[in-house]
Amino acid sequence: MPTLERLASRAYADHVNPQWVKLLNLLEMNVSYERCVGTELFTTDGRRILDFLSGYCVHNVGHNHPAIVSALKDELDQSGPVMLQSNVPELAGELAERLCKLAGGGLSKVFFASSGSEGVETAIKFARMYTGRAGLLSCARAFHGLTCGALSLMDGEYWLRGFGPLLPDTATVPFGDLVSLERELATRRYAAFFVEPIQAEGGIRVPEEKYLKDAQDLCRRYGSLLVADEVQTGMFRTGSFLASHHFAITPDIVVLAKALSGGLVPVSAVLMSDAVHSSVFSSFKRSIAHASTFSENSLSMRAGLATLDVLERERLGECATRLGMELQQQLTDALSGYEMVQGIRGKGLLLGIEFTAPRRLALRVPFEAFAKVHPAMFGQILVMRLFRDSGILTQICGNDFMVLKVAPPLMVTAPQISEFISAVRDMVDLAHHPGSFWSEALGLARRAIG
Ligand SMILES: Cc1ncc(COP(=O)(O)O)c(C=O)c1O
Repeated sequence: MPTLERLASRAYADHVNPQWVKLLNLLEMNVSYERCVGTELFTTDGRRILDFLSGYCVHNVGHNHPAIVSALKDELDQSGPVMLQSNVPELAGELAERLCKLAGGGLSKVFFASSGSEGVETAIKFARMYTGRAGLLSCARAFHGLTCGALSLMDGEYWLRGFGPLLPDTATVPFGDLVSLERELATRRYAAFFVEPIQAEGGIRVPEEKYLKDAQDLCRRYGSLLVADEVQTGMFRTGSFLASHHFAITPDIVVLAKALSGGLVPVSAVLMSDAVHSSVFSSFKRSIAHASTFSENSLSMRAGLATLDVLERERLGECATRLGMELQQQLTDALSGYEMVQGIRGKGLLLGIEFTAPRRLALRVPFEAFAKVHPAMFGQILVMRLFRDSGILTQICGNDFMVLKVAPPLMVTAPQISEFISAVRDMVDLAHHPGSFWSEALGLARRAIG
């Protein structure tokens, strides 16, 4: 890394987060990017990286889409009202109208916020107000965000340790388990059941066809709202505008974020029915009963509108469906037969490769040794080597370290898909031979412990 960048990296380590810098160094991923376009990232030392992570489903339209960059520049040039907090932000109305139309299902009002977590916090408050209940139910392995309310909906020890006590009256049920869900909902304590229609960080888990519809019926029967957290799955990532659409459910509240503003400005949107909305904004005296300084700011709204234009004009939902099927099939063809590959799953361009412990002794011994150092070790070595050796950026799932995420921007091309498949196949092949993959892993384990 050139000297100036080294200094900037040191400033970051000194004043922001030294552990993050250490981790990136350990994984040999601390490179400096000078230009990011579409699916490609270019480093200052002349490398080209293919993005198959999309910033955890932020970059559905690709990096720095020119139409969105230009819309933002125009917005700034207008010197219009930004965060005045004393006017009607018309762009927010326009964006809300389009989002509601795309979502359908009686979702007719939107509250805008600035992050997925803030969207989930909003959903918690609205669900509590509407139902008059305090309880919050969610799924094991879910990821809903790291603010205290959103974190209260999660069960991952890594995320929770030391941050309690969090919100009282919360519980989780296994994803896909209707019996446990009914047992909890029948207590009629819960304001809402929060669910990602396809669990992303939980390991790209697609539920059985009827699970969400039945879950919705149970919510209705016992008076709880159904909240779909579509922070990763929304915005055409899985082919349809919402993943909820695949399962024909009509949630009472939908949370969108990440890809909503084209990866350029933070924004989230909480879509809900009129009835839920008016339980909070119940009279003009209550017109700001829930609010947020950056909500409805014109840059986020403009970015949201331009992003919808791109998604629709370039038919990126259809691309996600078609390319996702091709990618899933090609991955299955390339990787079936390898004993450590359990399967490929997902929908659209939200896919995961699930790995499992090897049976062969020659592989099992090093695998188990590394798992003892850290359960994420095997996955991180895959991520590191894909990045270093093949210039592919991806990651393992935050709540299931044995699943490698495959989530490129929705405008990924067929040759880029072939490039990815061939890099992954080479890496998986290497991992199935006792040799350089495992000796490299040993080096990483030593450095990690050191
Ligand atoms: C499904 C889901 N919900 C909520 C969040 C929280 O979003 P944010 O990081 O913008 O607060 C995330 C973040 O990854 C997520 O994946």
